[in-house]
Amino acid sequence: MGMSALYGESDRGESIATVHAALAAGVTLLDTGDFYGMGHNELLINEALRTAPAADREKALVSVKFGALRDVEGGFNGVDGRPAAVKNFAAYSLQRLGVDHIDVYRIARLDPDVPIEETVGAIAELVQAGHVRHIGLSEIGAETLRRAAATAPISDLQIEYALITRGIEAEILPTARELGVGVTAYGVLSRGLISGHFTRDRELGAGDFRAMSPRFQGDNLTRNLDLVDRLREIADAKGASVAQVAIAWVLAQGEDVVPLIGARRRDRLTEALGALDVVLDADDLAAIEKAVPAGSASGDRYPSDQMAHLDSER
Ligand SMILES: NC(=O)c1ccc[n+]([C@@H]2O[C@H](COP(=O)([O-])OP(=O)(O)OC[C@H]3O[C@@H](n4cnc5c(N)ncnc54)[C@H](OP(=O)(O)O)[C@@H]3O)[C@@H](O)[C@H]2O)c1
Repeated sequence: MGMSALYGESDRGESIATVHAALAAGVTLLDTGDFYGMGHNELLINEALRTAPAADREKALVSVKFGALRDVEGGFNGVDGRPAAVKNFAAYSLQRLGVDHIDVYRIARLDPDVPIEETVGAIAELVQAGHVRHIGLSEIGAETLRRAAATAPISDLQIEYALITRGIEAEILPTARELGVGVTAYGVLSRGLISGHFTRDRELGAGDFRAMSPRFQGDNLTRNLDLVDRLREIADAKGASVAQVAIAWVLAQGEDVVPLIGARRRDRLTEALGALDVVLDADDLAAIEKAVPAGSASGDRYPSDQMAHLDSER
């Protein structure tokens, strides 16, 4: 996402090199949305896959979100989960990605006007026809997850989950586990906030999501960066970076939780991959919990108008 939108400037050559480096290092999951830069990100993935060594390209799984409606000024205009729209979105994504199937296809947000059974049913038809391999979901709550899973097999739920974003632990994660649905955790670094690289004086340009995110504002930012300082003490003691500990914490939540990391540059990717070597034992996890207890983040994870669109927050 950050290679095409929402986190300020990015460098196309570096983005492609980062995807290539990720594939070469054994990363297999590439996540995108058709609305990330209005097709920009899918075209970027197309180029990255086309120019990658064949062996790396063949291992790559592409997960695509659809449904978010944009306007020409870049604003968001609701969600469309109608079956005809699902098939229309898929037709354009296949073309932009330059692939003959999408590995995981999911609506980005529940369309409040379309029963989830209809949206998932349309993706199931795409699976039947061979255009999609697996059905995913994004930011939906436990009840919707049950209804979706009763309609067709669901591979995974993509949802924000991080050391400072623990909302799914009460109901959504147990429900996913009960239903055998995997979790793809995004925002593992809370969009850079708990990466250890974010500073108070960082300038955020217009259109940067973080310029509007409650967690990055005023006193909230100060308190959240205080949490990062506490985490840094633990990271230093482990000989790891803050980002690595934050990623390792999500990795430690279970084999069914896959951290999706928004690295936009090769140096960030290298750091993120280093988390695979950070093993957190029970004492480490207890120390982390003490330093950054569940619920200690200041500010909601989205601005209020966007929180209202999250079925997962109802
Ligand atoms: N389903 C959904 O609703 C949803 C919503 C949002 C995102 N997503 C998906 O999840 C992916 C990851 O989300 P995200 O980018 O918001 O999450 P993230 O991994 O929490 O944050 C990524 C940001 O952290 C900063 N960072 C600092 N050190 C890093 C390191 N070592 N490795 C990686 N990043 C580092 C980078 O900012 P700088 O580059 O500015 O330093 C980067 O832009 C997105 O690309 C998107 O595919 C899904």
